[in-house]
Amino acid sequence: MNNETLIRAARAARSRAYAPYSKFLVGAALLTEDGTLFTGANIENASYGMTVCAERTAVWNAIHAGHRKFKSIAVAADCSPPPSPCGACRQVLWELAGNIDVIMGNLADETEKMTLLELLAKPFGTENWAENPVSRELEASEDLWRIPVSFHPVGYVVNDYNVPQTIPDNYKELLSKIIIDADMEEGLYRLDEEKNIIVISHLHKAAGYTLKDKRSGRGNEVYGVFACRAPLRPNAIAQSVVELVDIDRNILTVKGLDLINGTPVLDLKTDYRNK
Ligand code: THU
Repeated sequence: MNNETLIRAARAARSRAYAPYSKFLVGAALLTEDGTLFTGANIENASYGMTVCAERTAVWNAIHAGHRKFKSIAVAADCSPPPSPCGACRQVLWELAGNIDVIMGNLADETEKMTLLELLAKPFGTENWAENPVSRELEASEDLWRIPVSFHPVGYVVNDYNVPQTIPDNYKELLSKIIIDADMEEGLYRLDEEKNIIVISHLHKAAGYTLKDKRSGRGNEVYGVFACRAPLRPNAIAQSVVELVDIDRNILTVKGLDLINGTPVLDLKTDYRNK
C-alpha cells in the first residue's frame, strides 16, 4: 500500500471522529508489516484531558487486534501545514510501533513524511529506568536541603492597609488584628501571659529581590539582602515583634504590626527573652 492510499484512509477515518468541543477532526491510518490497515479518529470528552487523539485510537485498534509490527502511520486533518502527531502520541507510537514512517496530510493534498525518530529525537523508554534501582545514597544525599519547602498559614492579618506603601510611619502605635484558624485556637493557650509576641508571616505581595542593593531602610547604603530587613528577599518571610493587647478566642489584637491586610501568618512565638 502506498503513502497516498494511506493518507486517503486517514482522511476517510476523520468522519468517525467525536470532536464536539474542538470541532477539529483528525483521522489516522496505521499500516502493519503484513499490510493490514487500522484506522482511528480523535475521541474527545467533556473532561477535556480525557480526549484521545486519532493516532492513539488507531494504535489501540491494531494492538487489540493482535498486531505488534508496524510500517507506517498516516495522519490527516483540515489544516495547513498538515498536522503532526502530538508529543503523547509520539511517545506511544515509539513504544508500540518503533521507528515507523509518519505521513502527514491535509485535504489540500499537501503531504510531509518523517520518521518517528525525527519527530521524537531522544525517546524515553524502559532502558532509561530498568537498570537504575533507587540507591541508598540518595536518601543520605547532602543535597536534600535543596528541595523546596511549603508552609501552611495558621492565620491572617486584618487592618486597614491594603498595599505595602499605605502602612503609616507611626505603625508602632496602631492596632491590627490577627485571626488564627479556629481549629488552632488551643495553640494560643497561655499566650495572654506574654507582653510581646513574634509574628512570622509570608509577605504575599512581595515579588523579586536583589542580593546586594541600596537599602532605603539603611540610609540608602548598599547592603546584602541577609544584612538588612528589606521585604524583597529570597523567601518572602517576615518577622515582626508586636505588643499583645488582647485575645478573644482565636482573635488577637496587637499593636505595632508592620504588615498589610490579608498577610498570611505562618507562626507565632513568644518573645520571652525580651520581657
Ligand atoms: N488531535 C489528534 O487527534 N491528533 C494529534 O496529533 C493532535 C490533536 C486531536 C485531539 C483533539 O480532539 C483535537 O485534535 C484538538 O486538539
